[in-house]
Amino acid sequence: MLAVTELTNFYGETDPQALIAKYGSPLYVYNERILRQRCREMKELVSLDGFRVNYSTKANANLELLKIIRSEGLDADAMSPGEIYVLLKAGFKPEQILFIPNNVSDQELQYAIDQKIKISVDSLSQLERLGRLHPGGEVVVRFNSGVGAGHHEKVVTGGSKTKFGVNPGQIAAVKELVARYRLKLIGINQHIGSLFLEEKPYLDGVKALLAIAVQFEGLSFVDFGGGFGIPYRKQESQARLDLTKLCTQLTGLLSNWRATYNPAVEFKIEPGRYLVAESGVLLGTVYAHKENGGTTYIGTDLGFNVLIRPALYDSHHDLEVYRNGKVVSRTELQPVTVVGNICETGDIMAKERELPLIEEGDLLGVMDAGGYGYVMSSNYNNRLRPAEVLIDQNGDDRLIRRRETFEDLVACCV
Ligand code: LLP
Repeated sequence: MLAVTELTNFYGETDPQALIAKYGSPLYVYNERILRQRCREMKELVSLDGFRVNYSTKANANLELLKIIRSEGLDADAMSPGEIYVLLKAGFKPEQILFIPNNVSDQELQYAIDQKIKISVDSLSQLERLGRLHPGGEVVVRFNSGVGAGHHEKVVTGGSKTKFGVNPGQIAAVKELVARYRLKLIGINQHIGSLFLEEKPYLDGVKALLAIAVQFEGLSFVDFGGGFGIPYRKQESQARLDLTKLCTQLTGLLSNWRATYNPAVEFKIEPGRYLVAESGVLLGTVYAHKENGGTTYIGTDLGFNVLIRPALYDSHHDLEVYRNGKVVSRTELQPVTVVGNICETGDIMAKERELPLIEEGDLLGVMDAGGYGYVMSSNYNNRLRPAEVLIDQNGDDRLIRRRETFEDLVACCV
């Protein structure tokens, strides 16, 4: 039975002020209990044997978090040789990793082949490239089943307007290349896009991929991709994705399909955000305020170098204000625009947001920042990437990645 629990007491035995005093600002903070809980929810999404969850490393590649995810019994996806490298460092076995790259070189493919890692290709030309490099080897093909979904057009990966996947009209050509290079097609996969909160698009995608799967014999697995959304607007009581409903529908669909077409097939999913986003909060500090053109600006160290989602996708993250280690209650609110310290007008964390009255020295918590946060951070303006801290299951804090130093800024220069 699938149980989705709201976990509270994010900061355990400590509080935002103590954390910033100890580790500096800005700071990514993760909660181990929440991460483990989300892993378990995804593992229970389909009540069938031969169902595997591959964590999509791109959402958060911190080594300690990867170790926790591995200890929960998940496998993983990698998008690049760098992600393969960190997954191996985190203790994942090569057979637990699926490499799902896009437009890669011979050298990158060879790296995965040498590590004995399964590779998914997403075009005929990449299939041929892999065939030339590794004739007689195993291969997985990523299809674009025509179904797309996502919170922004930049993250919809299925359908006719994206660069991803092999078109189902090219199945005959796939078979021809597989035969020409004596490849063994062990699986097919897809990813419709990132963040849906209604189950329909995912189920449509599953049905569309299964219709492709019946056209291949002897597949070991069918992998339906990720995209499971989280509610970023909790302060407005946004509803969660109904996993119980999705579980019932998916389990029925998949068990029928397996009984009809291929009793030996495994099913996989590839969640990223769902596992890590709510496990992370980004903390920052208020250093200034000003009025301009009727807008109140709250100046912080939360630039888009630290969290780019609002600037890149107009994404919403709920904000909490902390003073003296405690959250300031949302009783008296004022519309403010929260900005960072980067030299660009678009450096906005939250536009005209109703927040409690903020004072200099207050701390801000950017909620649900554990997915596509640190991994998309940069050194723009030669700012240093922040540290990352874990609140473990006992509620104790521990540094899991140090803050960068000025030396790191020139470490690669020759
Ligand atoms: N599998 C593949 C092949 C993917 O490309 C992705 C995400 C996933 C799985 C995991 O998707 P998830 O479960 O996390 O939605 N930076 C954007 C999201 C980009 C997602 C890219 N692909 C954001 O911050 O919203």
